[in-house]
Amino acid sequence: MNMNPERKLVKSYARAFAPATVSNIGPGFDLMGFPIFDLGDIVEVTVNDLSCSRITDIIGNSTLSKELEKNTAGAAVKSFLDKYAPGEYVDIVLHKLLPIGSGLGSSAASAVAAVVAVNTLLSKPLEVKDLVDHALDGEVVASGSRHGDNVIPSLVGGIVVISDPVNFNFFKVDAPQDLIVLTFHPHVEIKTSEARAMLPMMISVSESIKQTAGAVTLITGMIKGDYSLVKAASSDYIAEPFRSKLIPGYHEVKFMASSSDAIAMNISGSGPTSFYFSKLWRQQRGSNLKFKKFMIKLDLA
Ligand code: HSE
Repeated sequence: MNMNPERKLVKSYARAFAPATVSNIGPGFDLMGFPIFDLGDIVEVTVNDLSCSRITDIIGNSTLSKELEKNTAGAAVKSFLDKYAPGEYVDIVLHKLLPIGSGLGSSAASAVAAVVAVNTLLSKPLEVKDLVDHALDGEVVASGSRHGDNVIPSLVGGIVVISDPVNFNFFKVDAPQDLIVLTFHPHVEIKTSEARAMLPMMISVSESIKQTAGAVTLITGMIKGDYSLVKAASSDYIAEPFRSKLIPGYHEVKFMASSSDAIAMNISGSGPTSFYFSKLWRQQRGSNLKFKKFMIKLDLA
């Protein structure tokens, strides 16, 4: 391939991994998120000589559409190639390792892995920040809305705060060194599009003040490494009151978390996964045993 000097795709094959994400982080609805690198999706792209891109295989999930524009990875690749290599096409293999409807940014991970892979085929790959729009073009297929709090942390890593939700400008905040995250994933599926549809169109001034206070406090706590402030991740006045009803046992578990060594707990994305902040066990061996007990209890439940 690539005998034609006009071609933009100079490599024939690439494979990329993109991590799962926890988004919202409590009071940062649509504005904050971070990756979980142990979990994620993989996308392989191979340049073809056809007149269209195609999804040739989805490994690990038989329910997702293989139609290019109905699949988050396919739509992201199409958006990218239409702009940077029009007239050139790829075959896509999606390794769907994340559960769908999990609250772990599954659709975003497929879209991000897809654009990262296809970007690698260019002679001069774009900077990562320039991939955001194309990954969002993919994610929107599943979520029905363009929000960057899964796509951006999956792409760039770290705790991401979106400073401009229209243009998707963002900055990153370092997490305290000894902060760890646990996630629990009940086996129910929640579609992001449905979980967004159930949210109120407006919240009151007093709730918006509380939400802002939580968001500012959480980020300040992250920056200062002050866990008494990081606790603010447990508050959310936009999504949690409504979505928690979809998650079996959510309030009981939150109560248990509040009486354990968990620093904070909330819904991950649109759920049903929940996340828990704690301190690294080796530095907190004594008191974190309580947190460990709390986890064992949950396992048995
Ligand atoms: N911020 C989005 C929401 C994330 O909560 O709807 C969805 O994964």
